[in-house]
Amino acid sequence: MCGIVGYIGDKQAYDILIHGLHRLEYRGYDSAGVAIEHETGELNVYKSKGKVTELESSVEGKDTGGTLGIAHTRWATHGEPNDVNAHPHVSEDRTLALVHNGTIENYGVLKTALMQHGYHFSSETDTEVLVQLISYVKHTNRCSLFDAVREALRQVEGAYAIAVVEKGNPDMLVVARKSSPLVIGIGDGETFVASDATPIVGYTDKVVYLKDNEIAVIRRDAPLEVHSIDSIQHPVPDIQTLKLSVEQLEKGGYDTFMLKEIFSQPGTLRDCIRGRITNDCKRVVLSGVIENRDRFINANRIVIVACGTSWHAALIGKRVIQEMCRISVEVEYASEFRYGCPYITDRDVVIAISQSGETADTLAAIQLAKSKGAFVYGICNVVGASIPRDTDSGTYIHVGPEIGVASTKAFTGQVTVLTLLALCAGQIRKTIDTETVESIARALTELPQTIKEVLTLADTIKELSRIYTYARNFLYLGRGYNYPTALEGALKLKEISYVHAEGYPAAEMKHGPIALIDSEMPTVIIAPNDSLYDKIISNVQQVKSRGGSVIAIVSKGDRSMEQIADHCLEIPEVPECLTPIVAAVPLQLLAYYIAINKGKDVDRPRNLAKSVTVE
Ligand code: M6R
Repeated sequence: MCGIVGYIGDKQAYDILIHGLHRLEYRGYDSAGVAIEHETGELNVYKSKGKVTELESSVEGKDTGGTLGIAHTRWATHGEPNDVNAHPHVSEDRTLALVHNGTIENYGVLKTALMQHGYHFSSETDTEVLVQLISYVKHTNRCSLFDAVREALRQVEGAYAIAVVEKGNPDMLVVARKSSPLVIGIGDGETFVASDATPIVGYTDKVVYLKDNEIAVIRRDAPLEVHSIDSIQHPVPDIQTLKLSVEQLEKGGYDTFMLKEIFSQPGTLRDCIRGRITNDCKRVVLSGVIENRDRFINANRIVIVACGTSWHAALIGKRVIQEMCRISVEVEYASEFRYGCPYITDRDVVIAISQSGETADTLAAIQLAKSKGAFVYGICNVVGASIPRDTDSGTYIHVGPEIGVASTKAFTGQVTVLTLLALCAGQIRKTIDTETVESIARALTELPQTIKEVLTLADTIKELSRIYTYARNFLYLGRGYNYPTALEGALKLKEISYVHAEGYPAAEMKHGPIALIDSEMPTVIIAPNDSLYDKIISNVQQVKSRGGSVIAIVSKGDRSMEQIADHCLEIPEVPECLTPIVAAVPLQLLAYYIAINKGKDVDRPRNLAKSVTVE
């Protein structure tokens, strides 16, 4: 939530900052703002409610000159989205400007103390408290900007990635992080700062991922200096090479990032599987599992923690791991995990799944699991994010940057990696035979082609979406492997079209939700030709006999469902454990086209942010 950008160098900062904000807009778009140190010594701050384009319009004709600046795109936590609550926030004497991603938990106490010292506040945000605190420390201790920021942060509880500039100090930018991400890009005579690497790509490929409790001083003409916030340690910056290209971050001819990401799935799944299945398909090689084979052999049980779409992938993971590894698997919402009195021991394997690798609740669950001695395994997309750094081992899904707020290719990548993990651990635990491995592994290698075939349904689904654009409620049903697929289909529709949709295990419908069924309530049923097919047919009949209309996702050649359902979307037949990957694609497309028909901004749905870095 919230994206921050900073620049110091020889170019005009404004364009670089705005470009960076556009790249980070997926993190929030309630308001945006910039603060730029002008050659005249002025600190110009411009901010505006709404998306970055609204900031650009509001700044037209104003002086944005200067080669040092910071910028912010906001997902509101403290205070409604308006111009005043927008970042950057400035100190009362207007000498300091600060942008912040995270939450200051003890801001109430700090604010009261500062008010007692005569400070006044204009916004409702926790961030304004931090900039005022830095100003207070600076004046009281008569110290440098760096010392003031460090001392203020020692008094702060919560999560932050911040960037601070000072009026009349055109050669220095101070940044720090705790629990919120911050990347520093080191160019030739210029330095970039951002919440993730996407604003930096194209300028430099040398980056430093600031670690928790680190503060960095970025001077115009001096090497990067990193310090610890709490101690006198002076860590040597670990400069890494970025492996991201500009093309990966652009729409590539598609109308939206979400559509590009849906259509990129044949390629992303190929990348996800690459090097992980032997040529003869007899073995699955996940290095994170193999290097920790004893942990997987001796595990008492596996607990998976995740949020949102990643949690849906986790539910599928539970099913496939239990089947292949004969071990008990529990799935927890990461946001509930630490409040549920979890019983975790050093014999447990805890798997944390996250596209962004920055979800605050998932990070907190990881810390708790580690404190109990569990072996923690991360499944993540963003390379270098906090989760892969905080876990004992793990696997990247390697599907490339996902920019649309609604997760699509990350979901299919997560389910693919969970299947690979189940096969690999099953082989190590000797709970799976070679024929099973071979047939599933072969189908995995064929997935890119299979998904290509599914994508040819796009035009049919677009047509179909027109019939249902104005339905006000949807029910999504599935069983076994595809109950989580139903949850995921419903979530996609909810988040981008704002239509109410509920995912349910098909057989549970008769225990309550069936009361909702009438001619106004379409039901989407995921019914591939699997072990529960006959059972789901009777669930469809129950819907039809109550006047409901049914859209069924079925296996190719299914002629029975054709007789009952109103519309059938045929997908290629694959092993049962892979049906969620294949069935998810038409559900993504259905949600997409309904949202487009309704004129919604699918890449930036209201109230959402791509990466949820607050509790
Ligand atoms: O980055 P993560 O996978 O940890 O994010 C978890 C959820 O916030 C995320 O999946 C969210 O539900 C998406 N908007 C779903 O499309």
